[in-house]
Amino acid sequence: MLTTIRVNGVDRAADVDTRTSLLDFLRERLDLKGTKKGCDHGQCGACTVLVNGVRINACLSLAVMHEGDEVVTVEGLAEAEALHPVQAAFLAEDAFQCGYCTPGQICSAVGLLSEIAAGQPSEATADLAGPVVLTDAEIRERMSGNICRCSAYPQILAAVRRAAG
Ligand code: FES
Repeated sequence: MLTTIRVNGVDRAADVDTRTSLLDFLRERLDLKGTKKGCDHGQCGACTVLVNGVRINACLSLAVMHEGDEVVTVEGLAEAEALHPVQAAFLAEDAFQCGYCTPGQICSAVGLLSEIAAGQPSEATADLAGPVVLTDAEIRERMSGNICRCSAYPQILAAVRRAAG
């Protein structure tokens, strides 16, 4: 099925098998290998990308469902020579070891900060009155879909805190 998806600011049209995941479309058709395949069934978060500004697991979504959508992968975050503030924060805090989960962690953190800016509560805070506050517990809750097998969680937490300012 002919599908056009705007990926990192560029319209990408391709004839796509309806069973192709967004993850495989990005990696295999567009050669954007920054988005990683870990579990391929929604458990690890390595494949996290932003779709219309919202973070999703690309392995759980079919490419043909994203006709006309705006997808941003880790390759699309930096502007010219400048890293995205979340990328810079991960670098400053050494928030990785093997680095395999890092693109997903970074895209997830970008989505998290957008959620906070928009005042969206997490499941854990949905019943609480008052503004959403970015506590460490809130960061842990919102990043809980992104697994790091090396356990760099303290540094990842520090990086998200740093990026949040
Ligand atoms: Fe998509 Fe693990 S590869 S969640």
